[in-house]
Amino acid sequence: MMKTLLILGSPRKKGNTEILVGYVQKGIEAVGGTTEVIRLEGLDIHPCIGCGGCEKEGRCVIQDDMQQMYEKIDSADRIIIASPIYFYSVTAQTKAFIDRCQALWSRKYILKQHLQSENRKIGYLLSVSATKGERVFESAILTVRYGLDAMDYEYGGEFVVRGADMKGSITEFKDELDRAFQFGRKVTED
Ligand SMILES: Cc1cc2nc3c(=O)[nH]c(=O)nc-3n(C[C@H](O)[C@H](O)[C@H](O)COP(=O)(O)O)c2cc1C
Repeated sequence: MMKTLLILGSPRKKGNTEILVGYVQKGIEAVGGTTEVIRLEGLDIHPCIGCGGCEKEGRCVIQDDMQQMYEKIDSADRIIIASPIYFYSVTAQTKAFIDRCQALWSRKYILKQHLQSENRKIGYLLSVSATKGERVFESAILTVRYGLDAMDYEYGGEFVVRGADMKGSITEFKDELDRAFQFGRKVTED
């Protein structure tokens, strides 16, 4: 059974990212995949303090909610990191989560430990921006792409929607909601 972890990095409840994640989730479940949505806002995930503790055993010394996230990352087959654009990048909640994946970076690149898994592990970015600039997602793509690399996931690409700002305004973008559903199917079938 293909398990997808959807990491919701928007703090805005029932916002555009959350609505899109809901459609992606339906798409995944329509083709028999299982899903788990994790809302980062409200979890206790301290920013990385750069102590280097993880370089010894590939584990973070900070005991907070990130510890359960490491287990979820290791046991999933797909990860979708979903964050709206805040100042041309991911939200602070999402960035704190990714920075804490430095422990997994250490595990992979310093300790040379690789996960054994039956399925390919593939990760994606889902994002929304208010503006329509061509380059608006560039920074988020790089951050998520290399975050996923530390998690030992291949980068499968991004699903992005430009031009949605007000809470819930994405519901007017019917084509994008359908595209989100199809994206969920694709993620599972990749
Ligand atoms: C602090 C903050 C910074 C933002 N920065 C940008 C930005 O740099 N570019 C942009 O296009 N939209 C920006 N936005 C708009 C959000 O990306 C947009 O409202 C999005 O739909 C929010 O998604 P959500 O409803 O899932 O939270 C920003 C919003 C906030 C609150």
